[in-house]
Amino acid sequence: MKTEQEILAATAAYVEVLLSGEGSGHDWWHIYRVWNNAKMIAAQEQVNLYIVELAALLHDIGDHKFHNGDETVGPRMARDWLLKCNVGVEETAHVCSIIGELSFKGAGTSSEMKSPEGRVVQDADRLDAIGAIGIARAFAYGGHKGRELHNPSIKPVLHNSFGQYKSSTAPTLNHFYEKLLLLKGRMHTETARKLAEERHRYMEGFLKQFYAEWEGKI
Ligand code: ADP
Ligand code: NI
Repeated sequence: MKTEQEILAATAAYVEVLLSGEGSGHDWWHIYRVWNNAKMIAAQEQVNLYIVELAALLHDIGDHKFHNGDETVGPRMARDWLLKCNVGVEETAHVCSIIGELSFKGAGTSSEMKSPEGRVVQDADRLDAIGAIGIARAFAYGGHKGRELHNPSIKPVLHNSFGQYKSSTAPTLNHFYEKLLLLKGRMHTETARKLAEERHRYMEGFLKQFYAEWEGKI
């Protein structure tokens, strides 16, 4: 029987191999940062840290964005891995349900998490979507998908369904209004809320500078 620490180490090694060198901002180092964020947030919450860490490590292994919108791939891959590691059935189910619920689904939709562990992981993932790293990841993703940086004639849309949100091919700057600037107000924990404020201000400064340069004002 492996210990929890051994299972976490094996899971980290498995994910690192799987996602190393990924070029859209969903690489191993995204997972590493989310894992660290999750541990930091969990330290202030009453949660099962083992579940939090497993879900943080496995949350992007089969992301719908890279599987034609299929949301079942991620939880399925996580389940296969956890069963292989002999993780208990209940723990496996909890981790997989967190992974299934985690994703942002559009400005006009809710992405509530059922458990406190899920809320910690969602906050940790969302912190990595904002601030300087969030900006870098958004443009990496846009480049990966062949999107324009900005196109003033295409206005942001506050999507009312996950289907609409998933099928958008809008320029990357729109993503700030469609998701990134909304995340500060949707954090669950006090720890993440505080960090989000600083990161949010940084994105606002970036956008101000971007438009000023676009107009040739600076
Ligand atoms: P989620 O599951 O909530 O989508 P992820 O960790 O899988 O969270 O990745 C979300 C990140 O992917 C975003 O924060 C952003 O960096 C990038 N991304 C996703 N969709 C877009 C988009 N349409 N334009 C630019 N970046 C995007
Ligand atoms: Ni993620």
